[in-house]
Amino acid sequence: MSSTVLILPGDYIGPEIMAEARRVLLKIAERFVLDIELEEGLLGGAALDACGEPLPSETLRKARASAAILLGAVGGPKWDEVEPALRPEKGLLQLRSGLQLFANLRPVRLYPQLAGASSLREEVVSGLDILIVRELTGGIYFGQPRGIRELESGEREGYNTYVYRESEIERIGRVAFAAAAGRNGRLCSVDKSNVLEVTLLWRQVMQRLAAEYPQVELVHMYVDNAAMQLVRDPRQFDVLVTGNMFGDILSDQSAMLTGSIGMLPSASLDAAGRGMYEPIHGSAPDIAGQGKANPLAAILSVAMMLRHSLGQEAAAGAVEKAVGRVLEQGLRTADIHEAGCSLVDTRDMGAAVVEELNNE
Ligand code: IPM
Ligand code: MG
Repeated sequence: MSSTVLILPGDYIGPEIMAEARRVLLKIAERFVLDIELEEGLLGGAALDACGEPLPSETLRKARASAAILLGAVGGPKWDEVEPALRPEKGLLQLRSGLQLFANLRPVRLYPQLAGASSLREEVVSGLDILIVRELTGGIYFGQPRGIRELESGEREGYNTYVYRESEIERIGRVAFAAAAGRNGRLCSVDKSNVLEVTLLWRQVMQRLAAEYPQVELVHMYVDNAAMQLVRDPRQFDVLVTGNMFGDILSDQSAMLTGSIGMLPSASLDAAGRGMYEPIHGSAPDIAGQGKANPLAAILSVAMMLRHSLGQEAAAGAVEKAVGRVLEQGLRTADIHEAGCSLVDTRDMGAAVVEELNNE
């Protein structure tokens, strides 16, 4: 039986990087004789322009019917004035929530070839390999009530609600403990329990779960300290687990340790391991249409999809190795470019990975 992969290119650089991810996926399918069928759909600003809503029901239907989803990026200045409920980002959030993709895995791995491209010194980052486990369908991103209201004084007030149920904390906690057990056995739970009750509960639940995973050493860290430790000594971390908003922020920060946010893929999984795969970077309107975007985060997202949703570990490894060899050849998009390397555009970078897969 064939597996359907739904591609949602999205906005600005989204279509450019997804074109390369698609080529890599087709090549790997050919090399490993995988029966994959590709579908395409609209999400974000592209969907808003075409159908008046950022997540058309047709896209949600296709997403439910597919084995996995590959997403480019959504949003951008074109839709800045759109009301909050119709913003492109809302489409992405509705999709994550509608499919219950609560577990967001963001591996932060430094390719040794890029140690010089990191904003930190090589001796601080070399060998870096962290996994950020971000809760993705709850917290302040989804809490009710939310809005902007007018007070009696006539002044306006904006408000959001930071809320987590025990069951939501527990299920993301289990994903993180299991991941740590399969890695170096160290888990750092990030909260702000000295100020926010919701994260005090978070800490208590993590502590309770720890008893079930004796092979994992659990520590807790306040988010401000975690942000500092990530640039002071990032290699102290193995797996980090945190809520939706802290995870959003810390993953962008961590990305820079690896040279560029253009390098990091992610997986968003439901309880059954079905998932959506996307680079953690945004739609980069400033470089859209110029062939400057780095397609490697999208290509590495294909590898994560092969591993987590399609059960093709060997094919996933082949994609990751091909990326390593392309970097070894000295090919660099602008975001990771250094003296002595060859500057290539989005298409050439994708083509180089495809070429390497031919040599597999
Ligand atoms: C991410 C992005 C999204 C988020 C935006 C586009 C809604 O920043 O995936 O990290 O905040 O989750
Ligand atoms: Mg983000």
